[in-house]
Amino acid sequence: MRHPLVMGNWKLNGSKHMTAELIAGLRNALSGVDGCDVAIAPPVMYLEQAHQAIAGSHIALGAQNVDVNLSGAFTGEVSAEMLRDIGARYIIIGHSERRTYHKESDELVAKKFAILKDAGLIPVLCIGETEAENEAGKTEEVCSRQIDAVLNTLGAGAFNGAVIAYEPVWAIGTGKSATPAQAQAVHKFIRDHVAKKDAAVAQQLILQYGGSVNDKNAAELFAQPDIDGALVGGASLKADAFTAIVKAAA
Ligand code: G3P
Repeated sequence: MRHPLVMGNWKLNGSKHMTAELIAGLRNALSGVDGCDVAIAPPVMYLEQAHQAIAGSHIALGAQNVDVNLSGAFTGEVSAEMLRDIGARYIIIGHSERRTYHKESDELVAKKFAILKDAGLIPVLCIGETEAENEAGKTEEVCSRQIDAVLNTLGAGAFNGAVIAYEPVWAIGTGKSATPAQAQAVHKFIRDHVAKKDAAVAQQLILQYGGSVNDKNAAELFAQPDIDGALVGGASLKADAFTAIVKAAA
């Protein structure tokens, strides 16, 4: 039985004050909640503060990106070892915002996946099609291409203990979530795609849905057999909304 994971991607939002308030609110609201793994990924600047603030709770620390290099002359970057050192566990890679604004290729994302596995961290591999690709019927083609960049270089075993987040680009920050049936169909396709290489790995793989998840639509999404939680953007910035989403998965 897979344990769902609800993770908050704060993106480029936050402050010392907000980090303290939001985590205090979550700790309080989530104290008795079991049955769902919870993680938050604040901006890198607030990881240390967040790490201290979540101590003793069952909220895990995540991060939003990693560099492919471990150390050296790479100005502005953060390594896997640094993320591990600071206590981060779940690391988002391949987010569509990085693929689009920072021109990250499937190959670069696969290298990030490898570097995280080597460091003993958990990659949260984001995949998903744009609106144009969706309308052109290319959803499965895009998702399989993005997964194959990892599958074909590292093998299916790399997905043991890893997470894939299906985030249709047209649903991110738009308020227009995929319907539970739409999301389930793609999640099943993803699991079947990995199963072609390794059925056992596919069976344990956590498949999150991401894209305008909120306290209203979460329960119906989580009721789908292949949706194992969510990667939440906007709603993860509000303690009450994020708590309701976690409770819907628990
Ligand atoms: O990584 C989470 C994300 O891209 C979804 O954002 O704001 O639509 O929940 P949002």
